[in-house]
Amino acid sequence: MTAPGNKAVAGDAAGIADSPFSGRPFLPDGEGWSYTIAETPMLIAPDLAAYRIDAEPYYRPVGDEITVFEAAWKHRLPVMLKGPTGCGKTRFVEYMAWRLGRPLITVAAHEDMTAADLAGRFLLTPEGTVWHDGPLTLAVRHGAICYLDEIVEARQDTTVVIHPLTDARRMLPLEKRNELIPAHPDFQLVISYNPGYQSAVKDLKESTKQRFVAIDFDYPAPALEAEIVMREAGTDPALARTLVAIAACSRNLKGQGLDEGASTRMLIHAGRLAAGGVPLEAAVHAGIVLPITDDADVRQALGSAISACFA
Ligand SMILES: Nc1ncnc2c1ncn2[C@@H]1O[C@H](COP(=O)(O)OP(=O)(O)OP(=O)(O)O)[C@@H](O)[C@H]1O
Ligand SMILES: [Mg+2]
Repeated sequence: MTAPGNKAVAGDAAGIADSPFSGRPFLPDGEGWSYTIAETPMLIAPDLAAYRIDAEPYYRPVGDEITVFEAAWKHRLPVMLKGPTGCGKTRFVEYMAWRLGRPLITVAAHEDMTAADLAGRFLLTPEGTVWHDGPLTLAVRHGAICYLDEIVEARQDTTVVIHPLTDARRMLPLEKRNELIPAHPDFQLVISYNPGYQSAVKDLKESTKQRFVAIDFDYPAPALEAEIVMREAGTDPALARTLVAIAACSRNLKGQGLDEGASTRMLIHAGRLAAGGVPLEAAVHAGIVLPITDDADVRQALGSAISACFA
C-alpha cells in the first residue's frame, strides 16, 4: 500500500507552497539576536533518504490518535506521546511518518546528552574544522519529523534548545555557527514522555510541556492487544488471549512491588518464544517474569498470579 503522504514526494514543492509556514519566518526580537538567516533547502536532501520509511509499519489504531496527530501535523504543532513503556508510541510515530511521507529522525535522549548532540558541532578533520549538523538540525533544515524519545532523561538546559522551535518562531538558533535556521515547512517535533517514571528532579519544565499537543497512550483493550500479539508474535488466537490475560494479572500488581505491569512488547517477546517451541510457562518466565523484577517475593507473587491464568 502506498502511504497517502508518500504520493506527495514529487509534489513536495507544491505542498510547501500551500503550507501555512511558507512565508517569511517570525524573527524573535530583543537583545542578542544577531544571527544570519540560513537558506533552508525546500526539498528533501539526499542525506535524509536513509530516514524514509518505505514499507508500511504495522500499526493497529486504538483510539483517535491518528486523527489527532494528522490535525497536529496540518498545523505543524509539536506532539507529545505520553504512556508507559512498550505500549506502541514508537511504532505509532513510525507509522505516522510513513503515512505522511516524511522522513523520521529518532533521537534517544539520555542524561549526558548536550544541546550540541542535538544541534551539531564543529569537527576536526584533516581538511580543517567542519560543521556537522546534529539530528535535530538535520530534521529542521530538511523537513523531517524529529522524534525525541524519553525527552525527560535529558537535562533541562538541553531541553530548552527546542523552545524556539516549538512556538510561533519555529527557529533553531545555532549559537556556535552564529546561524538561525527557520524550520523547513515540513519539520515537526514529536517527543515521548512516560509520566509514570517522573520524579520532582526529573520532569519537563512547565514551559516545555505547555508547548506540545499531547496524545495519551496505554495498553490496548484485551481484544485489540491479543490481535497485536497474534500478528507481531505469530501466535494463534488462544495463546494471544492467554498472554493478554497474564498481562492483566501483572498490571494488577502495579504499585504492589511492580513499577509497571507487563507491556505489550513483553507479551510479544513471550509469544515469540512460545511460537518458536518454548513451553508456554518457560516462555512467560523468560519473556515476562524474569525481566520485570529482581525481587524474589514479587517474582513469586507474579508467578502465582500467572499460574492462575493457566488454570
Ligand atoms: N497499536 C499497536 N499496533 C501495532 N503494534 C503495536 C501496537 N502497540 C504496541 N505494538 C507492538 O509493541 C511493541 C512495542 O511498542 P513500542 O516500541 O512502540 O513501545 P513504546 O511505547 O515506544 O515503548 P518505550 O516507551 O519503551 O519506548 C512494538 O514493537 C509493536 O510490536
Ligand atoms: Mg519507544
